Amino acid sequence: MIKILAFAGSGRKDSVNKKVVAIAAKGAREAGAEVTIVNLEDFDMPIFNEDLEAQQGMPVAAQAFKELMISHDGFLISSPEYNSSYSSLFKNAIDWASRKTGDEANMAAYRGKVAAIMGASPGALGGMRVLVVLRMLMENLGTMVLPNQKAVGGAFAMFDGNGNINDVKTEKALKSLGKELVETLTKLKA
Ligand SMILES: Cc1cc2nc3c(=O)[nH]c(=O)nc-3n(C[C@H](O)[C@H](O)[C@H](O)COP(=O)(O)O)c2cc1C
Repeated sequence: MIKILAFAGSGRKDSVNKKVVAIAAKGAREAGAEVTIVNLEDFDMPIFNEDLEAQQGMPVAAQAFKELMISHDGFLISSPEYNSSYSSLFKNAIDWASRKTGDEANMAAYRGKVAAIMGASPGALGGMRVLVVLRMLMENLGTMVLPNQKAVGGAFAMFDGNGNINDVKTEKALKSLGKELVETLTKLKA
């Protein structure tokens, strides 16, 4: 079975990116994948510093996140746009997960994986600019990123307090992205 790890680049309790990635995850599950949704703020890791790494090794939470990435075939990522780029929460987790600790292959969390990327913002463009740098980052690390992506603009008006979406077109596009990730991974694994 295809295994997908889904997460948002925001730690905010009411994050629209968490809501967006949950819809894509639903699409992936409906397409037959096993999806693990995690909250990055549950992985308590310090800001990456090579001195700290040399003295204390990899923090337990960073190791746990890296192992989750390694044990899944692909990723659903929804990123907030902070000053036209990704959040420090997201980049910090990505940096820790790029560090080799055991006898795993180099960049085992990234190489050979496939990702579908999304962004959500209250602004009209929906974080379109973050998708450019997010795609570049993941591909530089060895993860193939699907050509299709989704920027969700006006996101604050789109969800109720329970994360239900009121925009049928956006819901369809997000679920379809999740499904496309499963279909691509299925072909690659065949
Ligand atoms: C430091 C900071 C920078 C931001 N920069 C942008 C930006 O460049 N473009 C944008 O559309 N929204 C920007 N925003 C607004 C975010 O899109 C908004 O806070 C969004 O809700 C964050 O996603 P979340 O709901 O998943 O936490 C910024 C917010 C913060 C806190």
